[in-house]
Amino acid sequence: MIGRLNHIAIVVPDLEAAAALYRDTLGADVSAAQDIAEHGVSVVFINLPNTKIELLRPLGDGSPVAGFLAKNPDGAMHHICYEVSDILAARDRLIERGARVLGNGEPKTGAHGKPVLFLHPKDFCGTLIELEQE
Ligand code: CO
Repeated sequence: MIGRLNHIAIVVPDLEAAAALYRDTLGADVSAAQDIAEHGVSVVFINLPNTKIELLRPLGDGSPVAGFLAKNPDGAMHHICYEVSDILAARDRLIERGARVLGNGEPKTGAHGKPVLFLHPKDFCGTLIELEQE
C-alpha cells in the first residue's frame, strides 16, 4: 500500500540555523522558509535526489509541534511521510486493521498542497506516520 518515502520531518528550535547547517555544512539544496499557518508551522524544504527533508518550527499559538519541541529542545525527528495512491482507501484499510488515524479521520491539505493523514505513533513502532496522496 505505501509507496515512496516523500519526506522526513525534523522539528528544530531555530529554522534559519538549521537551514544554514543543511545548506552550508551538508551542502544540500535548501528552499526559502515558508509559513503554513493552517498547520501552525514554518517550514524549509531540503531537496535530496531521492526524497525531501522538512525542517519545521512552531508558528503561532497552539502549534501542533510546540509540545514536541518543548520535550526535545535541541530538535528531533518528528515524522516520516509515505506516499499512497488512494488516501481514502488507505485510511479505510488502516482503520479496519485497528490503526488509529489522528484528528477526525478526514484528510487535510498538507505542506505540498495534497491530502494528508497522520497515524498514531504508538501503532507504528513509535514513529508518527504521515500519509500523502501521490
Ligand atoms: Co510532513
